[in-house]
Amino acid sequence: MFHQLKSTFVLVLFLRLFLESRAALDICIKCSCQGNRINCSSRNLTSVPRPIPPNIEYLNLTFNHINEIKPGTFQNLPNLTTLYLNNNDIKELKAGSFQNLPSLGGLYLHENNISEIHVEAFQKLPNLVDLYLNNNDIKELKAGSFQNLPSLRTLTTYSNHINEIKPGTFQNLPNLRYLVSHKNDIKEIHAGAFQNLPSLREILLYDNDIKELKAGSFENLPNLRVLVLHENDIKEIHAGAFQNLPRLDAIYLHYNDIKELKAGSFQNLPSLTTLVLAYNDIRKIESGAFQNLPSLTDLDLKNNTGMMCGCYLPALVNYTKTTFNRKVTVRGQCQADVGNNQTKSIPILEYSECKSWTNSFVFYLIFNSTLKKFNEYKSSGVNISRAIEHELSNLTGTFEVAYCGSENNSGVFTINCTVSLIFTKDQIFKQVSETFKTSQTLRDLGLQQGNTELFDEMAVW
Ligand SMILES: *[C@@H]1O[C@H](CO)[C@@H](O)[C@H](O)[C@H]1NC(C)=O
Ligand SMILES: *[C@@H]1O[C@H](CO)[C@@H](O)[C@H](O)[C@H]1NC(C)=O
Ligand SMILES: *[C@@H]1O[C@H](CO)[C@@H](O)[C@H](O)[C@H]1NC(C)=O
Ligand SMILES: *[C@@H]1O[C@H](CO)[C@@H](O)[C@H](O)[C@H]1NC(C)=O
Ligand SMILES: *[C@@H]1O[C@H](CO)[C@@H](O)[C@H](O)[C@H]1NC(C)=O
Ligand SMILES: *[C@@H]1O[C@H](CO)[C@@H](O)[C@H](O)[C@H]1NC(C)=O
Ligand SMILES: *[C@@H]1O[C@H](CO)[C@@H](O)[C@H](O)[C@H]1NC(C)=O
Ligand SMILES: *[C@@H]1O[C@H](CO)[C@@H](O)[C@H](O)[C@H]1NC(C)=O
Ligand SMILES: *[C@@H]1O[C@H](CO)[C@@H](O)[C@H](O)[C@H]1NC(C)=O
Ligand SMILES: *[C@@H]1O[C@H](CO)[C@@H](O)[C@H](O)[C@H]1NC(C)=O
Ligand SMILES: *[C@@H]1O[C@H](CO)[C@@H](O)[C@H](O)[C@H]1NC(C)=O
Ligand SMILES: *[C@@H]1O[C@H](CO)[C@@H](O)[C@H](O)[C@H]1NC(C)=O
Repeated sequence: MFHQLKSTFVLVLFLRLFLESRAALDICIKCSCQGNRINCSSRNLTSVPRPIPPNIEYLNLTFNHINEIKPGTFQNLPNLTTLYLNNNDIKELKAGSFQNLPSLGGLYLHENNISEIHVEAFQKLPNLVDLYLNNNDIKELKAGSFQNLPSLRTLTTYSNHINEIKPGTFQNLPNLRYLVSHKNDIKEIHAGAFQNLPSLREILLYDNDIKELKAGSFENLPNLRVLVLHENDIKEIHAGAFQNLPRLDAIYLHYNDIKELKAGSFQNLPSLTTLVLAYNDIRKIESGAFQNLPSLTDLDLKNNTGMMCGCYLPALVNYTKTTFNRKVTVRGQCQADVGNNQTKSIPILEYSECKSWTNSFVFYLIFNSTLKKFNEYKSSGVNISRAIEHELSNLTGTFEVAYCGSENNSGVFTINCTVSLIFTKDQIFKQVSETFKTSQTLRDLGLQQGNTELFDEMAVW
C-alpha cells in the first residue's frame, strides 16, 4: 500500500517535471531561448506563450499580434528586468497586468492600440525606470495611474490622444526625470498638475492644444531645466504660470497664439537663459513682462509680425548691460510708426523713439508727528525729506522727496521716483515700503510703522 502510494507520488512528480519542461520548451519552440533571454519577436503570436520560465531576465515579444494581457501573465518572475511588448495590438491594460515584478526596469508598450489604462495596471514595480506608452490610443490618464513607481525615470506618453492632465496624474515620482507627452490633444493643464516631482528635468508638451497657462501650471519643480510648449494654442500666459523653478534654463513657446505679454508673465526665474516666443501674434509687451530674470541671454521674438515697437525691451537690454555688464540678445522685428498711417519693420532693439527710457511714479507718505507740530517747525519737514531721500538712495532709480505741508499733526510728502522702464510701479512700491519698515534712521526720526502710511495713489483727504 505504502509502495503503491510512493510510486504514484513519484509518477506524479515525473509527470509534473515532464509537463513543466514541455511547457518551458513550448515557449522555446515558438521563440528562441538563450540562457535567461527569450526572443519571441516577429513570431505571429496572438497571445503571450505560457508558462514563462521563472528564471527569465529578458523577454522580447515585439512585432506580434498580441491583443490582450491577462492579469497574472507576468507574475512570479523575480529576475525579469526587461519586457518588450511594443508593436502589438494590445487594447487595454487591466488592473494587475504588471505587478510584483521586483526586478523589472524597462517596460515597453509603445506602438500598440492601448486606449484604456486601469489605475492599477502598474503595481509594485519598485525598480521600473523606463515606461514607454507612446504611439497608442490613450485618451485619458487617470489620477494615480503612476503612483508607487519609485524608480521611474522616463515616462513617454507622446503620440496619443490624451486631452488633459489632471492633478495627481504624476504623483510621488521621486525619480521622474523625463516626462514626454508631445503630440497629444491636451487642452488644459490644471494648476498643480506637476507636483512633488523633485527630479523632473524636462517636460515635453509640444504639439498639443493647450489654450492658456494658468497661475500654478508649473511650480515647485526644483530640477526642471527645460519646458517645451511650442505648437499649442496658448493665447494667454497668466502671472504666476511659472513659479519657483530655480533651475529652469529654457522655455519654448514658439508657434502659439500669444497676443500680449502682461506684467509678471515671466518673473523670478533665476536660471532662465533662453526664452523662445517666436511665431506668435504678440502685439504688446507690458512693462514688467520680464521681471527678475538675471540669467536671460536669449529672447527670441521673431515673426510676431504685428508687434509695435516699444521702449521696454531696449530698456531691459540697456539696464542689464549697464547694471550687470551682460548682453541680452533680442531677436525679431517690430513695427515703427513713421507717420501717415505707415509703419516700418525694424529690429526690436533699434527703436529709438522713446524720449525717456524711464518711468516715473509718485507715491505719497503721510506722517503723523507725535513730536512736533509741522506748522511750527517747517524746516523739519524739509530735513525729513532729505533723510528719506538718503535712505532710498540705494534702490534702483532716483528718488526725489518733497515736503508738501501739513494739516493738524499730519505731514504730507511726495516721493517721486524715476526708474528704468523695466520696473513696475508695484515693484518700486514694495521696495520703498520695505525701506520704511527696516530703516533705523527713519525710525529715529519718529517715522514708525504705526504713524506713517504710504500710498501709491493720491488719496482724497
Ligand atoms: C529575434 O528573432 C527575430 C525573428 O526571428 C530575429 O529577426 C531577430 O534577429 C532576433 N533577435 C535577436 C536579438 O536575436
Ligand atoms: C526585439 O526584437 C526585435 C526584432 O528582432 C529587434 O528589432 C529588437 O531590437 C529587439 N529588442 C531588443 C530591445 O532587443
Ligand atoms: C507570420 O505570418 C506571415 C503572414 O501570414 C507569414 O508570411 C510569416 O512567415 C509568419 N511568420 C512566422 C514566424 O510564422
Ligand atoms: C534570480 O537570480 C538570482 C541571482 O542570480 C538567483 O539566485 C535566483 O535563483 C534567480 N531566481 C530564479 C527564479 O531563477
Ligand atoms: C484600435 O482599436 C480601435 C477600437 O478601439 C479599432 O477601431 C482600430 O481598428 C484598432 N486599430 C488597430 C491598428 O488595431
Ligand atoms: C518670418 O519673418 C521673416 C522676416 O520678417 C520673413 O522673411 C518670413 O517670411 C517670416 N516667416 C513666416 C513663416 O512668417
Ligand atoms: C489710417 O488707417 C485707418 C484704417 O486703415 C483709417 O481708418 C484712417 O483714416 C487712416 N488715417 C490716416 C490719417 O490716414
Ligand atoms: C541706458 O542706461 C543708462 C544707465 O542706467 C542710462 O543713463 C541711459 O539713459 C540708458 N539709455 C537708454 C537708451 O535706455
Ligand atoms: C534741519 O537741518 C538744518 C541743516 O542741517 C539744521 O540746521 C536744522 O536745525 C534742521 N532743522 C530741524 C528742525 O531739525
Ligand atoms: C547703501 O549701500 C552701501 C553698500 O551696501 C551701504 O554701505 C550703505 O549703508 C547703504 N546706504 C543706505 C542709506 O542704506
Ligand atoms: C517726477 O520727476 C520727473 C522727472 O524728474 C518729472 O518729470 C515729474 O514731473 C515729477 N513728478 C512730480 C509729481 O513731481
Ligand atoms: C494719523 O492721524 C489721523 C487723525 O488722528 C488718523 O485718522 C490716521 O489714522 C493717522 N494715520 C497714521 C498713519 O497714523
